[in-house]
Amino acid sequence: MNKLRNDLFLRACRGDETERTPVWIMRQAGRYLPQYRIIREKHDFLTMCKTHELAAQVTLQPVDIIGVDAAIIFSDILIIPEAMGMHLEMHEGKGPMFHNPVRTKDDVSRLKKIDPWKDLKYVMDAVSLSKKELDGRVPLIGFSGSPWTLLTYMIEGKGSKNFSIVKKLIYNYPSLAHEILNKLTEAVADCLSAQIEAGVDAVQIFDTWGGILSPGDFEEFSLQYITKIISLIIRKNEPVIFFAKGVNYDPVKLASTGANVLGIDWTVEIGKVRNVLQGRTALQGNMDPTILYANKERIKNEVIKILKSYGSGSGHIFNLGHGILPDVDPENAKALVDFVKEESPRFHLQESLSKGK
Ligand code: CP3
Repeated sequence: MNKLRNDLFLRACRGDETERTPVWIMRQAGRYLPQYRIIREKHDFLTMCKTHELAAQVTLQPVDIIGVDAAIIFSDILIIPEAMGMHLEMHEGKGPMFHNPVRTKDDVSRLKKIDPWKDLKYVMDAVSLSKKELDGRVPLIGFSGSPWTLLTYMIEGKGSKNFSIVKKLIYNYPSLAHEILNKLTEAVADCLSAQIEAGVDAVQIFDTWGGILSPGDFEEFSLQYITKIISLIIRKNEPVIFFAKGVNYDPVKLASTGANVLGIDWTVEIGKVRNVLQGRTALQGNMDPTILYANKERIKNEVIKILKSYGSGSGHIFNLGHGILPDVDPENAKALVDFVKEESPRFHLQESLSKGK
């Protein structure tokens, strides 16, 4: 395997010294890039995920075009439920849809145990090809959805406003919910272990819908499974990033999962979270994605505000607080990355000095 020439991201994940703050953007391979849209016009989304040459090609685009410090494998969280036997369709403008949502005990027993090296071989092929094509330029991140977030899509069948159906399930048939969550926990852990074996340098677990649960329900239906997954993942020292959107009230509890990095959304001050955590984990985030609609001066000010809030020292990976939106000007995404590169070295001066000694 090629030695990494830029390992800022991995060092920051581990809390090691860095000369500047590394930066990447959640959902960085996507429709805001004209180069992505050109490929997407010729192929539907799932074909892109399942054709490793195409997946690797778009995985590398943000590295080449906007200069991020990490690549994330082009795929989707919903390919795990698909591999378990659900029928996934991505609808233009409407988002993902399962035509056979899980509703009964029989539906649950039909969910099959997956072998990632067989059922998701295309992901592992995309990982090894992306690693080869990255040629050590930046690390590659693998990912999965959390069992809870996957459950919401599997039960609702599509995106939802109130999550009524999945809430009815957990409050009326909790043991059935736990049965599915257990199956998903095994699938997610196996899939992340396989991605690591195929070559990813770190993994991120997206709990996009963790924030719709009360603290007690979050612990019961999401957090305990995250802890289990992190203990099951077979890894050398590849960091695990846990991003639970909308769950900002107890970072210490999130850190108790064993994650190396916590992803945080933009509704909290990163400096306050850092204070509460006292070095238990590194932090990733947390600019409001809609700031990228503003002009460059405003973007720069916001970058400086977040760098200042985090303060001096290592353990910060700059990112948005959620995925980049499809109608953002790619120039602004590039400007964000450039501003982090230009403005962050002064927050690492102490480290550069002690290194020079
Ligand atoms: O970050 C990256 O660049 C890697 C690729 C990636 C995608 N989806 C590609 C994608 C990642 C990490 C995801 C994660 C994902 N997928 C999440 C968790 C992160 C988050 O944003 O909360 C969720 C909830 C999904 C499910 C999903 N996939 C939705 C709700 C949608 C439709 C909304 C949308 O953004 O279009 C998708 C489709 C999807 N996944 C696209 C991309 C690039 C757009 C598909 C297209 O080109 O038409």
